Amino acid sequence: SGVERLGDMIAEASTIVPFTGAGISTECGIPDFRSPGGLWTRNRPIPFDEFVASPDARDEAWRRRFAMEPTFAAARPGRGHRALASLYRAGKIPAIVTQNIDNLHQMSGFADEHVIELHGNTTYARCIGCGKAYDLAWAKLRFEETGGAPDCADCDEPVKTATISFGQAMPEDAMRRATELAQHCDLFIAIGSSLVVWPAAGFPMIAKNCGARLVIINNEPTEQDDIADLVIRHDIGETLGPFVGN
Ligand code: OAD
Ligand code: ZN
Repeated sequence: SGVERLGDMIAEASTIVPFTGAGISTECGIPDFRSPGGLWTRNRPIPFDEFVASPDARDEAWRRRFAMEPTFAAARPGRGHRALASLYRAGKIPAIVTQNIDNLHQMSGFADEHVIELHGNTTYARCIGCGKAYDLAWAKLRFEETGGAPDCADCDEPVKTATISFGQAMPEDAMRRATELAQHCDLFIAIGSSLVVWPAAGFPMIAKNCGARLVIINNEPTEQDDIADLVIRHDIGETLGPFVGN
């Protein structure tokens, strides 16, 4: 079966790089983006230039974020996160590349410096001018005091969750490190991503072109199933559950 082949490939690999998307966190209660019920089926994404230009867009972005807070605050690592953390502790995974913003890989036991976040992190905020970090409780308090999206206490520019919006520059260091990881692994496993958002979606192909085996685990077809060595079209928690604690 697919899971047995995956087990063999994991056993044979010396350097595994996982690449995760929102599908690994759905069992933790966090909706993905493009499935039925996904975030982008309910809300139109707010592009970066709109956030910068429009106070209304900023208010809306923060209202949405505060509405999600109980969900993010309650989320704990699932079977997929825990399985990857086990392989990391076993020395098989040097670092993980993720599109997720939910902090669950860190919570599952990955050191911060071994989680390469391509799309940032929603559990804290940053000034888009000077980069100063803020916690969400501060943003909530400011929103309540002023009735609108918070501005930086130092430079007065807008403060935004520390995530990458459409149209916003990708984090250079994360892109560089993810490229190196994809180039130097022997097994690359894309987990829970529709693989439609670029440049993130380019990493499976980079790994494949550099000689890694490519596995895709996703319950729906993805854009890149045709280049994979193994496609497991199945639930992530069930597929990776057997690797928890190994
Ligand atoms: P998507 O919502 O596009 O894809 C998630 C995939 O996971 C879908 O194909 C689901 O079918 C699958 N899935 C969900 N739950 C699953 C489960 N339990 N088992 C197996 N498969 C499951 O999410 P991403 O690919 O992560 O970017 O989206 C990429 C980027 O688009 C995000 O990082 C975000 C979004 O816009 C930004 O915000 C910049
Ligand atoms: Zn600032």
